[in-house]
Amino acid sequence: MHAPAKHPPMDLQQAMAAANGRLAGRRILVTGAASGIGSAVAQLFLAAGASVAMLDRHWPGPAPEHERALVLEADVTDPDSVEAAVFCAVGSLGGLDGVVNAAGIANTDWADQVSLGDWRKVLDVNLTGCFIVCRACLAYLRDAQGSTIVNLSSGQGLQPFARRSAYAASKAGVIAFSKSIALEWAPTVRVNTICPGAIDTPMVRTGYSAEVLRDQVGPRYALGRIGEPVEIAQAALYLSSAESSFVTGVVLAVDGGRSYH
Ligand SMILES: NC(=O)c1ccc[n+]([C@@H]2O[C@H](COP(=O)([O-])OP(=O)(O)OC[C@H]3O[C@@H](n4cnc5c(N)ncnc54)[C@H](O)[C@@H]3O)[C@@H](O)[C@H]2O)c1
Repeated sequence: MHAPAKHPPMDLQQAMAAANGRLAGRRILVTGAASGIGSAVAQLFLAAGASVAMLDRHWPGPAPEHERALVLEADVTDPDSVEAAVFCAVGSLGGLDGVVNAAGIANTDWADQVSLGDWRKVLDVNLTGCFIVCRACLAYLRDAQGSTIVNLSSGQGLQPFARRSAYAASKAGVIAFSKSIALEWAPTVRVNTICPGAIDTPMVRTGYSAEVLRDQVGPRYALGRIGEPVEIAQAALYLSSAESSFVTGVVLAVDGGRSYH
């Protein structure tokens, strides 16, 4: 038996109520917005007063409706589709102040068994997709004040497990890419990276049952549990607002202590 969590996650509705005004007037593009972390980021940012362009490869259910939300379909690996979506977002929102790159896919194959096609796909979506979106947005971010990019890497990009070679390589690439553009695009654009630990989203639920996440995965974390999407969204909110005005090139682990202990 493990002790009950002493730091329970903030509920998304409470976080949304507390976020009021923190992103007022900001126009943000969120990729991977149809699910998991990207969806929580979009919801929290809307509650914080931002206008949000929500981009995903596909929208399985009815797209969310909000007077400050724009729903876009694009594949982050396809530069033409991304450029068209960014152009649409800028036209509709009147410009672009920030980007959160949360689109991503997982892979748990052993390194000696992963197919070359799957290896390339993981690198293409997680790393090249992040590059394509950042570069498509750059001209608009340069026109704005206090521009920000937040890229989703992973704890796997800091301390990989076995059976994560393609995924960990892609996420380590996101860290290095983000640090590099934080230098290149300063002082106009701040670029920061978040490394989540295991977060309860469809990506993780496809590999683990709720019981395994609670009884086996959670106890591996210093804080004794896995995270909720809103806990990553809170970090993205800080890094996308003027509250982090002196922060760039940072790699922030939001992982319940997994990567330090
Ligand atoms: N959930 C976790 O434990 C965890 C941990 C560390 C990092 N991350 C990272 O956080 C990000 C979000 O993960 P999540 O758990 O919310 O996953 P998720 O599967 O719930 O959501 C990912 C979204 O990305 C979209 N997407 C995938 N490929 C795309 C493409 N080519 N173009 C456009 N959209 C695409 C999917 O349609 C989906 O809506 C990912 O980059 C993931 O690697 C997640």
